[in-house]
Amino acid sequence: MKVGILISGRGSNLKSLIDACATPGYPAEIALVISNRPEAPGLGIARAAGIPALAIDHKLFATREAFDAELDKALRAAGVELICNAGFMRILSDGFVEAWRDRQLNIHPSLLPAFKGLKVHERVLEAGVRITGCTVHIVRPAMDEGPIVAQVAVPVQPGDTAETLADRVLAAEHKLYPLALKLVAGGHVRLEGERAIIDGAVAKAQAPLFVPDIS
Ligand code: GRF
Repeated sequence: MKVGILISGRGSNLKSLIDACATPGYPAEIALVISNRPEAPGLGIARAAGIPALAIDHKLFATREAFDAELDKALRAAGVELICNAGFMRILSDGFVEAWRDRQLNIHPSLLPAFKGLKVHERVLEAGVRITGCTVHIVRPAMDEGPIVAQVAVPVQPGDTAETLADRVLAAEHKLYPLALKLVAGGHVRLEGERAIIDGAVAKAQAPLFVPDIS
């Protein structure tokens, strides 16, 4: 399956997907990486791996819809079948999201539906929860909403700062996104209403990966 990856910055999740796609038998290939920020380090990661990488600067467009139309055009020209948002920090218009309905994934650094939005780790620490984690879900127009494909739980440790917690969750993200993309691109995920159901045999075989050792 041809995948397009949307980024805005560092690109560490992008790197984990590039590495996964390079493993034999992996059911996805990255056709294009797009950043809305031309200075995003992730663009260099893509280019170093020989993957076409494009900056489409949102500041050059008068409206959100005009920017989204350009994104759409580039993705379709590259033959993209599935979009993965990987640290893409731009809200997409409802029209774009609906045009790619069930064909766009996002990773969020919390156990959704808890802690949607920004400053996640700060809010997790303020709330005093003992377990956090990360989620890959199918994108819907409302931010950080949509059918959950895969999650990993990550412990909050005494003395954690937002930074130490973010690092621990990020390590889990790097395992989770490649797994979730493998499940979706491999055709093992179907929707029942707004719930994503993973093919039973596959879910069982992958079970140890759902709680990776991230200590
Ligand atoms: C990740 O924590 C991701 O969950 C969030 O933004 C961060 C992006 O990091 N949406 P990177 O650019 O993939 O390194």
